[in-house]
Amino acid sequence: MLRKAARYRMRRTTSLRTSWDGQQSVAGIIVLTSATWVSTSRLTISCLEQAAAAFIDQTYGHLDILVNNAAITVDERKSPPSQLAMADLQKVFATNFFGVFAVIGAMLPLLKRSQAGRIVNLSSKAGSLALASTSASGSFFDQIPPALAYTSSKTALNALTVAFARELRGTKIKINAVSPGYVATDLNDHSGLLTPEQGAHEPVAYATLPEDGPHGGFFGSEGAISW
Ligand SMILES: NC(=O)c1ccc[n+]([C@@H]2O[C@H](COP(=O)([O-])OP(=O)(O)OC[C@H]3O[C@@H](n4cnc5c(N)ncnc54)[C@H](OP(=O)(O)O)[C@@H]3O)[C@@H](O)[C@H]2O)c1
Repeated sequence: MLRKAARYRMRRTTSLRTSWDGQQSVAGIIVLTSATWVSTSRLTISCLEQAAAAFIDQTYGHLDILVNNAAITVDERKSPPSQLAMADLQKVFATNFFGVFAVIGAMLPLLKRSQAGRIVNLSSKAGSLALASTSASGSFFDQIPPALAYTSSKTALNALTVAFARELRGTKIKINAVSPGYVATDLNDHSGLLTPEQGAHEPVAYATLPEDGPHGGFFGSEGAISW
């Protein structure tokens, strides 16, 4: 989805997509400039800070946009929370939460050198506690299983977004959690209703926010989403 976002609208930006698998210590890095992917590599977490940050530092001197796009899920259709394996919960959090934390930490010094640093955390309405706890009969939430691993990883990601937003108040950096909508991708066996190009619309918009844009929020195509 993010590759298509890059081709779709970004210009003259330096952006990066990565995540961290705590077990395998793997991070995937893609750097783009002028809407062209210029580097793709997989690095061990031990050299993430040194190699990825040093590469961006030496090549661009700063980072304008960090989109934390990577996420995984496990099949929770037949695994209610009481039957979810601890290993699956940890696996999902490794990519969807700890990976984001590690990458933001590594990239923050470079983002601080940008004139308008932007961080977009790809979240999901499924992580909204407000929506999940108040969903009416027949609603979207009523029709999907209580997928604890995926939903709680996105809830945690939202909390991370708010915490970093508080730390970064008063800086030129804006960080937001953004839901792309229900997009047909590998994540949902292509059952989504939106195309990847349509799903890229909101993440790209929040990655290119003007100076007076929002900071520390949770947004989708409909505007603000309840936490
Ligand atoms: N699709 C939807 O309806 C929907 C709805 C709400 C939110 N979202 C969110 O939108 C984001 C993008 O999802 P998507 O639908 O595009 O999913 P996707 O098609 O499954 O893509 C996920 C991407 O994450 C990468 N990835 C997974 N684990 C990784 C790791 N350990 N290290 C590096 N990269 C890793 C994958 O790279 P490889 O292919 O190289 O493994 C893949 O490019 C996710 O954060 C998802 O939670 C999606």
